[in-house]
Amino acid sequence: MHDALIETIQLSKVYGSGETAVHALDDVNLTVGAGEFVAIMGPSGCGKSTLLNLLGALDQPSAGEVWVAGENLAQLKNVDDFRAHTVGFIFQLHNLLPTLTALENIETPMQGRVASARERHARAMHLLTLVGLAPRAKHLPNQLSGGQRQRVAIARALANHPKLVLADEPTGALDSQSGEEILQLLGELQRSEGATIAVVTHDRRVAQATQRILRMQDGRIVEDHRVSDPLEEDLRALAFSKLGETILDPHDAPMQDVTPEEEAVLRKLIERLRR
Ligand SMILES: Nc1ncnc2c1ncn2[C@@H]1O[C@H](COP(=O)(O)OP(=O)(O)O)[C@@H](O)[C@H]1O
Ligand SMILES: [Mg+2]
Repeated sequence: MHDALIETIQLSKVYGSGETAVHALDDVNLTVGAGEFVAIMGPSGCGKSTLLNLLGALDQPSAGEVWVAGENLAQLKNVDDFRAHTVGFIFQLHNLLPTLTALENIETPMQGRVASARERHARAMHLLTLVGLAPRAKHLPNQLSGGQRQRVAIARALANHPKLVLADEPTGALDSQSGEEILQLLGELQRSEGATIAVVTHDRRVAQATQRILRMQDGRIVEDHRVSDPLEEDLRALAFSKLGETILDPHDAPMQDVTPEEEAVLRKLIERLRR
């Protein structure tokens, strides 16, 4: 293997069988380099969570291979160790333990891995400081705001220095202000901790803060591009929107106040952006 952090080879996942079979992932070949910050977008049900779960060894493929940090996940000697050490998960709902303080929640995944309670405490405090919550170390989750809880969840995901952080709609349950803060934080952590981050999001602004956007549809990756010019990103989002679809649809009624020539130009532009 070369030095890609993630490599999937003809990865497929089918749920169920026969007539009710759902092809959640269909022949996905994906390579992500170490240190990349990648957004995964696409409509609900297109396979984003399935992909993330396979990358994190939370589930097993129906066909194909997943390699993470040089290891074939089908041949892991110790899956628990991989989940605890190599990957850190952040979910839409934070999943913090309600009876533990913020600090204790971050310490938990280090139990049995980091030698002493003192070291665990120091690492947890360091992470709480990184996410801007040191003064809330002793608060319980229900004494924190949604955004603060999600920051604790991020700190917890980083506890064991994972090479790969997988975040499944981490801003989905937050207001846009907190969502933006969470995202900035992920970006900073990606730089300071050097982790590779894959974040599933519906939020275009979230995606644009990353370095690379993968777009999925029906279990396949249909677009893979580097984030460059924000204007181009906006145009691209427009091209993939309902409006873009409408303009492309030849059966759609002609648009009001737009001449056929103008509509033809729009269609050409949208087609190019969607390429
Ligand atoms: N455990 C499961 N059993 C059966 N079908 C599932 C299961 N998990 C997901 N699916 C189906 O697989 C497809 C992809 O799901 P998912 O990866 O959760 O999509 P996304 O995260 O993009 O919304 C969907 O059609 C979903 O209904
Ligand atoms: Mg999902």
